[in-house]
Amino acid sequence: MPRLGVNVDHVATLRQARGGSEPDPVAAAMLAELAGADGIVVHLREDRRHIQDRDLALLCQTVKTGLDLEMAADDAMVKIALAVKPHYVTLVPERRQELTTEGGLDVAGHKRRLERVVDALQDGGIPVSLFIEPDAGQIKASKAIGADYIEIHTGRYANAQSEQEIETEFRAIVKAAQLAARLKLGVNAGHGLNYRNVQKLTAISEIVEYNIGHSIVARALLVGLDQAVREMKQLISRSAGTGHGARG
Ligand code: PXP
Repeated sequence: MPRLGVNVDHVATLRQARGGSEPDPVAAAMLAELAGADGIVVHLREDRRHIQDRDLALLCQTVKTGLDLEMAADDAMVKIALAVKPHYVTLVPERRQELTTEGGLDVAGHKRRLERVVDALQDGGIPVSLFIEPDAGQIKASKAIGADYIEIHTGRYANAQSEQEIETEFRAIVKAAQLAARLKLGVNAGHGLNYRNVQKLTAISEIVEYNIGHSIVARALLVGLDQAVREMKQLISRSAGTGHGARG
C-alpha cells in the first residue's frame, strides 16, 4: 500500500500570518500521524516564510513515522540537515518570488553540484530524494548521481484541464515511474494533488509515497485534520485499477 506523507508547511503559513505561535505545525504533525499519516514533510525555505528552524528541530525529535525535509541544494541547508538529521531529504529548486515550488530540479544540467550535495547528505546517513519533472533525462541523471529516490512533480497533471491533457500528463507520470523503478530508484510523487485528482495515480504501482500538503491543510480547516488525513489515506489506499478510471 502506498504511503502518505503529510506536508504541514501551510499550518505554519497560517501561524506566520500573525507572527505568533498558533497554529503549531508540530502539533499538526502529531495529529496527522495519529490519523494515519505515514510520514511528515516540511520545506525549510531560505526566506523562512512558513516553517522555522525551531519547527524543524522539534519535528526531528517528535515525528515517529519519518520526517522528510524538503530543501534547496545549498551549503547552508546541508549544514542544517546534517545537524538535525531528518529521516530523509528531498532536494527541490527554490526561487524567492515563487508562491510554491515551481518545476522540478534540473539534475541533468547541474550534475556535479547536486552530486556533491547528495554525497554529503548520504555520508551523514540521510537518504536523498530529488524532486524532478517526469522526464527520462532527469531520471537517468538522478540515478547517475546516486539519488535513493525521485519525487515526480505532479504539478502539470494537477493543473491539466481537458481530459486529453490529463491523460497526456498521466501517461508521462506512468512512463517516468516505470523507468525510475527499472533503475531501482524509489518513486514518490507530489505537488498539487488533491481529493479529486489523486486516485487516478494509484493505478501506478511503482509510486510508493504521495506527498500532499495544501489540499489536506485546506480541508482540515473545514472538517478537521484527523478527518482530512483519514480521507486522503483512504483515497490513496484504494487502487484506481487499470489507470483508465475517472479522475473526478
Ligand atoms: N512535494 C514537494 C517536493 C513540494 O515542494 C511540495 C510543496 O511544498 C509538495 C510535495 C506538496 O505540494 P502541495 O502542497 O501542492 O500538496
